[in-house]
Amino acid sequence: MTHTWNNWQSRTTVALIAATALCWLAFPATAQTPAENGELEIIAVLGDYDKVAHSEPQLFKAVFEDEEGRLVEEEKIYIRWIKINDYSSKWGCVSAICPHLKCKVNWEPERSRFVCPCYGCEYDINGNVTKGPSKKDLPDYSEQVFTEDGKVKLRRFVEPEE
Ligand code: FES
Repeated sequence: MTHTWNNWQSRTTVALIAATALCWLAFPATAQTPAENGELEIIAVLGDYDKVAHSEPQLFKAVFEDEEGRLVEEEKIYIRWIKINDYSSKWGCVSAICPHLKCKVNWEPERSRFVCPCYGCEYDINGNVTKGPSKKDLPDYSEQVFTEDGKVKLRRFVEPEE
């Protein structure tokens, strides 16, 4: 029994070392940040915190500008404030543009679904596709939302123009 246990332990250790080595090869520790890659940070100011933070998805036009205030791009997005428990909350933010043929989706609160008026795609509140023809989820920007000086902002990185 002890012998079998030791064999199992050695195999597990070898497997863990091999998996770690593969991770190092696939994702080297020298990965660069967007700024180091020469990408441009652009910011969209969505509005005052109290106007943006609602539990139902709210539609906004995110107008992204560079640090000199020049318009770079625009995109309609839905954002909501998700209460996790009494102590923590987070932002949920998805594109309002259907990945199928780029129509704007509508939020239907009674069904808790984003519905595309063009060909009928549906997405759940997190943007996961629940009905085709689209096979893709709504792009999720939740991790790029932040609050600064009482304003809710959305950050993204783009390739600078030549
Ligand atoms: S564009 Fe939305 S279903 Fe095709």
